[in-house]
Amino acid sequence: MYEICPETRADGPEVETLYDLCFAPGRTALSSYRLRDGVPPVADLCLVLRGAGTLMAAIRFWPVRVGRRRVLLLGPIAVHPTAQGEGLGGLLMHDSLRRATGCGWSRVLLVGDEPYYRRFGFVRLDGVVMPPPTNPDRVLGLELRAGAWVGVTGPVAREPDPVQMPSLPTAPQGEDCRQVQTPERPHRDETPRR
Ligand SMILES: CC(C)(COP(=O)(O)OP(=O)(O)OC[C@H]1O[C@@H](n2cnc3c(N)ncnc32)[C@H](O)[C@@H]1OP(=O)(O)O)[C@@H](O)C(=O)NCCC(=O)NCCS
Repeated sequence: MYEICPETRADGPEVETLYDLCFAPGRTALSSYRLRDGVPPVADLCLVLRGAGTLMAAIRFWPVRVGRRRVLLLGPIAVHPTAQGEGLGGLLMHDSLRRATGCGWSRVLLVGDEPYYRRFGFVRLDGVVMPPPTNPDRVLGLELRAGAWVGVTGPVAREPDPVQMPSLPTAPQGEDCRQVQTPERPHRDETPRR
């Protein structure tokens, strides 16, 4: 059994340590981090997943703009190396995107591997330009509201009005936590089929 809760300020150092473990050194030098500089994350959607109290996975989101349109920037997401491939990333993706829809967000953007993210509905975004150097094939989008990406093109920019964003809570808000079962992985029959 796992518990997914909104990240609190107390979780912050542990989440950073997990990201440092899962990503290459110098991750914060990536150009996508410049979109996050000085902008608080979207507190309702930054989630931690714990099993028996141990942090196993985390996801964060930031607000950005494409033109005048508000966009959710997904990431980083990371699962502890000892638990990768067990479905925890999928749990956090589905849970956070459901919460994002509930919070009224319309469109999500990320930079990542299309072969992983397409299972959640992400497709390559033509005409949406992340700060260089970013491989355009890795710029992916998801519509939480039908048609939300139609006609939305141009450079991705920092949220210009970040002071209105609420900051991470200081303590866990129990009612926002969700108990989840250990994901069932599809059975893989190693026997060659005729
Ligand atoms: C990428 C990551 C978040 C996925 O979470 P996870 O819990 O390991 O993945 P899940 O168990 O939900 O899904 C496993 C499936 O995703 C696939 N997968 C995982 N990473 C993948 C990738 N980078 N590209 C393509 N497929 C990938 C696995 O092969 C597996 O496929 P299968 O279901 O066909 O067997 C996690 O592996 C991780 O933290 N990786 C290191 C950090 C990272 O790369 N973060 C993403 C960039 S922001």
